[in-house]
Amino acid sequence: MSLDVAALRAREYPWMDAHAGVYLNAASTGPMPQRAVDAAAEWSALRAQPHRIALSHMFETVATSRRQFAALVGADASEIALMPNTTYGLNLAARALPLRPGVILTFDGEFPSCVYPFQALGARGITLEFIPRRDGLPDEDALVTAIAQRADVVAVVVSWVQFATGFVADLARIGAACRARGVFFIVDGIQGCGVRPIDLHALPVDLFASGAQKWQLSPWGTGFVYVRRDLVTALEPHDVGWACMKSSTDYTRLTDYAFDFFDDARRFEVVTLAYHDFAVANASTALLLEAGVPAIAAHLETLGDRVVAWAQSRDDVRLVTPASRERRAGVFAFAPRDADGMAARLRAAGVAHVVREGAIRLSPHCYNTTEEMDRVLAVLDG
Ligand SMILES: Cc1ncc(COP(=O)(O)O)c(C=O)c1O
Repeated sequence: MSLDVAALRAREYPWMDAHAGVYLNAASTGPMPQRAVDAAAEWSALRAQPHRIALSHMFETVATSRRQFAALVGADASEIALMPNTTYGLNLAARALPLRPGVILTFDGEFPSCVYPFQALGARGITLEFIPRRDGLPDEDALVTAIAQRADVVAVVVSWVQFATGFVADLARIGAACRARGVFFIVDGIQGCGVRPIDLHALPVDLFASGAQKWQLSPWGTGFVYVRRDLVTALEPHDVGWACMKSSTDYTRLTDYAFDFFDDARRFEVVTLAYHDFAVANASTALLLEAGVPAIAAHLETLGDRVVAWAQSRDDVRLVTPASRERRAGVFAFAPRDADGMAARLRAAGVAHVVREGAIRLSPHCYNTTEEMDRVLAVLDG
């Protein structure tokens, strides 16, 4: 089913038609839809009078979050732990996976979330190495060759969609190379999750972490980590708190001190969750599931085609994001010779965008129209 952008926009983003500018920055912060704004108001009212919130309502709320996040990525709710963002999930990978001394590989150009948690493992004899870029993009061939040929590689961490280039990694290919060598495969999913279909059960991915504040249109402080089913009980939680334990669902047994982790991924949820924020995230995630991630992805392909054709038509603009649809999602980056001038024109026209690594980055979502995209490209043309 195709996306009815006009209806979605009128219902969920009523401010956009009255707004003189264009919001093209979901890769930084996804705007919350009206239903999420309504949920936030409802939960703020409840939170002001906590006696109105039953414990069962809190537990159901976060159970819905796990279920819905699982549905977004083709996982089971038992494999989902709620997290405040991407980096916590990546730290879980760094700290809890049974990594022997050796090398973790990543691409040069990744967002630092794929870097620092793994650079911090030096005391365990684990170092992080970067696969150099080729023509400014991740060199997937070189990564796969290194995994196959080197005996010292213990894990690979990459982002599914790169933050600055928009390059989409072939998770099936990299994961297969990892599996063949007994190497763990860790994915930062935040720049694709919600706008590109993924079926984690069909992919050789061990851990997949995503914050929900960008493409999932949810509050800051919400996100999740997927842990592949066989690993859930095999991993020892690296941070341990009362919420990891089965007894945390029964407030009459707290001082039994029964040291017994949940048998599902809740064992990695350490503390009291942000029920309020996850309730809002549930509203946003429901919108994505209703609209359908494949339909959103198809819409972004169409919008991306326009940016690609425009960049290719100008000899003073270098397209940074790959031209092929298979290798891009919702991040479209290009490097103009006059980057400052073009960025100034966008700012003057109220087009929300960012400059990353010397390139202008446009990141539309389900609410952006083709007319808006054409208008923005006309602004760039001056
Ligand atoms: C690829 C990638 N990972 C992670 C993050 C943010 O990490 P966190 O959700 O932990 O704040 C960003 C934000 O720009 C990103 O682009």
